[in-house]
Formats: sequence, structure tokens, C-alpha cells
Amino acid sequence: MVADRAGAWLLILAWLNCGLAEEKECDSHSPSEAQCDSHGVLSADFLQLRTETQPLKSSPWPHARGPVSEVPHSGWTPESFMNHSLRWTYKDPLGQYMNMFAAGAVIDVDENLFQMTYKGIFAFNKNGKQIWHYETPGVSNNEPLLVDDLVLGSTQQGNAFAVERLTGHVRWIAALADDAGGDAGYPNAHEGIFVVSAHKSWKAPTDGGNERIFGLHVSNGSRIWQYTPEVPVWNFAPLFPADGSVVFMDWTGGVYRLNLTTGEEIWKVLAESNKSFGDGGVALSETMVYSCSNFGHFTGDEGTPGVVRAFYLSNGTEVWSKFLEMPCNSYPAVGHLAGFDQLALVVTPGSFMDLFHHVGRALRGEVLALDALTGAQLWRYPVAPYDGGPIGMAVGDFEGFPARVLEGIQLVCYPAHWSAPLIDGSGQVLVGRADGNLHWILGPEVEFPNLKRTANMTVRNGLLSEVRHLGSGFIHGAISAGPGLFAISTCDTLFVFQK
Ligand SMILES: *[C@@H]1O[C@H](CO)[C@@H](O)[C@H](O)[C@H]1NC(C)=O
Ligand SMILES: *[C@@H]1O[C@H](CO)[C@@H](O)[C@H](O)[C@H]1NC(C)=O
Ligand SMILES: *[C@@H]1O[C@H](CO)[C@@H](O)[C@H](O)[C@H]1NC(C)=O
Ligand SMILES: *[C@@H]1O[C@H](CO)[C@@H](O)[C@H](O)[C@H]1NC(C)=O
Ligand SMILES: *[C@@H]1O[C@H](CO)[C@@H](O)[C@H](O)[C@H]1NC(C)=O
Ligand SMILES: *[C@@H]1O[C@H](CO)[C@@H](O)[C@H](O)[C@H]1NC(C)=O
Repeated sequence: MVADRAGAWLLILAWLNCGLAEEKECDSHSPSEAQCDSHGVLSADFLQLRTETQPLKSSPWPHARGPVSEVPHSGWTPESFMNHSLRWTYKDPLGQYMNMFAAGAVIDVDENLFQMTYKGIFAFNKNGKQIWHYETPGVSNNEPLLVDDLVLGSTQQGNAFAVERLTGHVRWIAALADDAGGDAGYPNAHEGIFVVSAHKSWKAPTDGGNERIFGLHVSNGSRIWQYTPEVPVWNFAPLFPADGSVVFMDWTGGVYRLNLTTGEEIWKVLAESNKSFGDGGVALSETMVYSCSNFGHFTGDEGTPGVVRAFYLSNGTEVWSKFLEMPCNSYPAVGHLAGFDQLALVVTPGSFMDLFHHVGRALRGEVLALDALTGAQLWRYPVAPYDGGPIGMAVGDFEGFPARVLEGIQLVCYPAHWSAPLIDGSGQVLVGRADGNLHWILGPEVEFPNLKRTANMTVRNGLLSEVRHLGSGFIHGAISAGPGLFAISTCDTLFVFQK
């Protein structure tokens, strides 16, 4: 979810939504009322059980930006998207727009998928059978995460929770604050500590953002530390360099590194203006942390600039920065790209949607690949401006509005211009756009002399790519991957591609 200038419109929408939405417990939204128990958990059919003797490998996609690895990457998978085709989809049984998805699905060691929605978390096995459904303690736009046999998450009612991965049974629920922002966060965990934000910020340009960050014990939800950043966080997505610290970005592009076990500040680098606003967060390489945010006091709208920055992880010293002609409203990815030896940073400049404000205006976007060490451009993938549809919003937000009013759920998805990009094991980039298109950027055409091209492959600026229309916009964490499996979520449908 993002900020918008037409804040008044959102207030009206929020008001309309409050008036219509019912208290969200195990209510008629559940697939079957009769099956609800006191935790709001549905009985687990079709359970894909891991045999006791099989060792627990690590989850291929425990968090929206991928696994913590020995050599840190962000938004990277060893799997290749090539040769995967669409096998199954999931959308609300009542209709495409009758639920709202919170970013993408996380994937566990058994290739089960876990998707947060306005109506709680749905767990599926790799063949698309629903294995459980959990009514979260409050509504959530945050993507869940996996730690061993737990699925963790947090809600707008200020609660964090953990449920069992294979059954959806509640392990613990912890009240962190009276509330939390309606933005789309990516809480994360490492070495037994769950790092999550809560306490909604009233400084926010629209409904969302959090003023406090908590470190909790994964095992029981009890609080270890609490930290208040200089500027609140939006779409909070902490990452772990695997050195006992945690790094994250505030909504102006300020970057922080804290001690993971104590919450003590190691360093912070504030952005030049605390009036700036953006949607994304940081990415990691072995020695650096990257941010992509909005330049100066700008707030991500069409016609305003963005900035990418690289800092040394050790001390926060800026290594390089690059001015972007377009705003930057998503998370960078770090990995290796087809045709290039150097480590790359992929960023997705593009303006926010803006309800009514941009009707008929061209919302520009592009994808840039940079040298992660120097910031030099490796390639630029141009796209035609998006016209914002009838109300200046992502595809699906206008179309789904009446159904969402009737269903009493969140009325608009309000994705940013792009999802966060994913770099695959062949150095190809996947990214979703607010116009409902998934872009698969294979790389420089010269790298693919023998590839049998599909009808929808084109060459733009020397880059071979394919565009697939998936029907609605994408929230940042939309794309995830596991062995022989890519999961891509729009605001209303989960698409699963398999080999
Ligand atoms: C895709 O399939 C083709 C034809 O079977 C094969 O040659 C190629 O190696 C496969 N590529 C990947 C990345 O799986
Ligand atoms: C929670 O778990 C941690 C470690 O797993 C333990 O040290 C702590 O005492 C536990 N707290 C409570 C309240 O059980
Ligand atoms: C920006 O700084 C001013 C002055 O210190 C403060 O009043 C304001 O709350 C800050 N805004 C944010 C978003 O932190
Ligand atoms: C975090 O704090 C602990 C306890 O003071 C200390 O032992 C550890 O070295 C610190 N880690 C980092 C990365 O600063
Ligand atoms: C920051 O760390 C980098 C490498 O870790 C080092 O080269 C640089 O000199 C340090 N800068 C300062 C100001 O300490
Ligand atoms: C291929 O491109 C055509 C024309 O742009 C489009 O209508 C069609 O939906 C695309 N196919 C897929 C699978 O997205």
C-alpha cells in the first residue's frame, strides 16, 4: 500500500470500509463456519506430512526477499524460471475480487505455500490443495514468514502471532501495540529473533507506517527489545547480514543497522529530508547495504526523482549513490545477471498510482540493472507509460471496487508501480507491474542465440523479454520460488508455475 496525494479519497474509502466491514473473527468469510474451532483454525485435510526421519532442510522461500544465505543476496533464487508453466491458481471461491492478497506466498521445505489475505492465511500444498486456513488476530497486509515449523506474522490490530506450519494451530499471539499500519510489511526472523513493527504512525501521509520495532523470541513471542527509529517505517522489511545485526530502511530512505540480539543501534544514516516518502526498503550483498528511495523531499509521484544508495555494512559510510529520473518505490534485488560477471543490483523506478489525480496521465516506469560495486548501469529495460485506467489506479482496483464494497473487505489494493524484482538462477529478472503485467527479462538478446522464442517474446533496448498479463497489480513481495516452483501473486490471485 502506498501514500497518495488524494488522501481525502482514501479517508472516504476507509470510512466506507469501516461502516461495512464486520468484526473479523471466524465468521461467514470462512470456507466453512462449522469447521471453526476456538482459534478460528480449520481442520487440516490433505495434510502433506513430512516423515519424522526426513531431516528438516531449510525453506527455499521463508521470507519475501528470499532466504538468508552464506553469501547474502536479496530477491534471488537459485531456481530458473525458464521452462515453468502455469499449473494452478487460487482465488477466492466467491469471485476474483472477493478477497485481497497481502503480497506473495512463502514456500516451506515441503513446497507448501502460505498466502496472507484479508480473510487470513491460506496454506496450500504444491498441487494447490488447501491444507489449512487461519483467521489471523486482526487483519493484515503483511506477508507471513517461515521459521522451522512455524508460520509467523503480524496484524493491523498490533498483534504478532505464530502458528504451526503443518496444521495452522496457534502457538502464540503477542500484543505489541494498540495498532499497526495498514501498509504491506515483511517482518522477518533470524537466530530465534522475530523482528516486527507495530504502533501505527499518525505522521503518515495515509493509513500506514509504524513507529516502533520489536525483537521477539520466535519460540514464544516474548519481547527482547524495542527500538524507535528517527522516522517511522513503511512496508517494514528487515534483513539480516548473518553477522548478528539487522538492517532496514525508514520511509524517507534512512538506513539503520541494529544489534539483532539487543536492539542497540550500531549505525544509522538519515535521509536528507524527513518529508520524503517511499515504499521500499533495503537489499544486501556481502559487504554492502543498498536503499532505493525518493530523492530530497519528494514522495514518489510521477515527474519526481528517486535515488539509489550503497553503504558499507560495517560502518554505514556511503559508497556510491545514483540519482534516478523516476521515483523509486520498491526494494532492490541483488544477484548475478545473464551476460555480466559483476554482482548486479536491480531497481525498479516508477511512480506511485494516485487515485483520480493521474487519470489520463502517463505513469512512467523502467527497470535498471546496475553494477552493485560502482552503480554503473549494466542495462535499462524501458516500458511504455501506464495510463492508470479509469481512476488512475492499478488494474483490478477499479474493476474490483463494487465486489469489495459488497464483501466488506479492504476496498483498494493500491500497489506501487512495480513489485520487488526477483533475480533467478539463470540471471533473469521477474517483476510485476501495476498494469497487471508480469515482465520476464531474460537479458541481452546476444546471450540467447539458440533459444526457441515464444510468441510473446520481444526485444527492447537489446533485452529479450516476455510479458504475461496476469490481470491485476502486484504488491512488492509478489514473486517467490522453490525447487521447480514459482509462485506469483497479484492483489487477488495466486498463480503457481511448475516445471
Ligand atoms: C529448458 O528446456 C530446454 C529444452 O528441453 C533445455 O534445453 C533447457 O536446458 C531448459 N532450461 C532450463 C533453464 O531449465
Ligand atoms: C521465551 O523463550 C526464550 C528462549 O526461547 C526464553 O529464554 C524465555 O524465558 C521465554 N519466555 C517466556 C515468557 O516463556
Ligand atoms: C520531521 O522533523 C520534524 C522536526 O524535527 C518533526 O516535527 C517531524 O515529526 C518529523 N517528521 C517525521 C515524518 O518524522
Ligand atoms: C550485540 O550485542 C552483544 C551483547 O552486547 C555483543 O556480544 C555482540 O557482539 C553485538 N553484536 C554486534 C553485531 O554488534
Ligand atoms: C567503513 O568501512 C569500509 C570497509 O568496511 C572502510 O573501507 C572505510 O574506510 C570505513 N569508513 C570509515 C569512515 O570508517
Ligand atoms: C501475449 O501477448 C498478447 C498480445 O499482447 C496478449 O493478448 C496475450 O495475453 C499474451 N499472452 C500471455 C500468456 O500473456
